Amino acid sequence: MKVLIDPFLTGNPIAPLELDELEDFELLLVTHAHGDHLADAIALASKRKLTLVSSYEIAEKIQQETGASVVGMNIGGTYAYRNLKVTQVQAFHSHTGGPATGFILRWKTNSVYHAGDTGVFGDMGLLATLYAVNIACLPIGGHYTMDIDQAVEAVKLINPKHVIPMHYNTFDLIKADSKLFKQRVEEETTAKVTILNPGDEVEFP
Ligand code: NI
Repeated sequence: MKVLIDPFLTGNPIAPLELDELEDFELLLVTHAHGDHLADAIALASKRKLTLVSSYEIAEKIQQETGASVVGMNIGGTYAYRNLKVTQVQAFHSHTGGPATGFILRWKTNSVYHAGDTGVFGDMGLLATLYAVNIACLPIGGHYTMDIDQAVEAVKLINPKHVIPMHYNTFDLIKADSKLFKQRVEEETTAKVTILNPGDEVEFP
């Protein structure tokens, strides 16, 4: 099953694909309504058969605009779809039209935390306790989100096995050295960092 989170292809200077080249997926998760996250979600919800999951207010608005099937929940809520559980969690970030959030995705053999846009916060440790995060996708670009120093501390709080850095190098304002992040995380924690370039695929055991 494929899940898409925060599609930003149109107008993204480093996107490897056009919107129409995207493969089929069943769930579309939107962490918050900033332009670089909501981005192509409305176009996709209009064109494709999918279920869109977001904060109540954002989901409601997209449902009205597109007629798509939506699940509008809020921080703390869990949506079960086939063998997947999607839990919406807090993010510390400004918002428009509904809270800024992250998601925890869980299935039988894995637990993935997609932090959305956020600064670091101590309760990331609580997410680790509740959901035994295996893979954490964390912003490192600074300016609008955590920078490398904060993201390294976030890894210590979350204690995942794998980390994927995100939300950097799209624009000059969020330039970050992902190799430095990898080096620091792997020196200071037991987690392994996988750096993905746009379009890359990775499989975890
Ligand atoms: Ni944002």
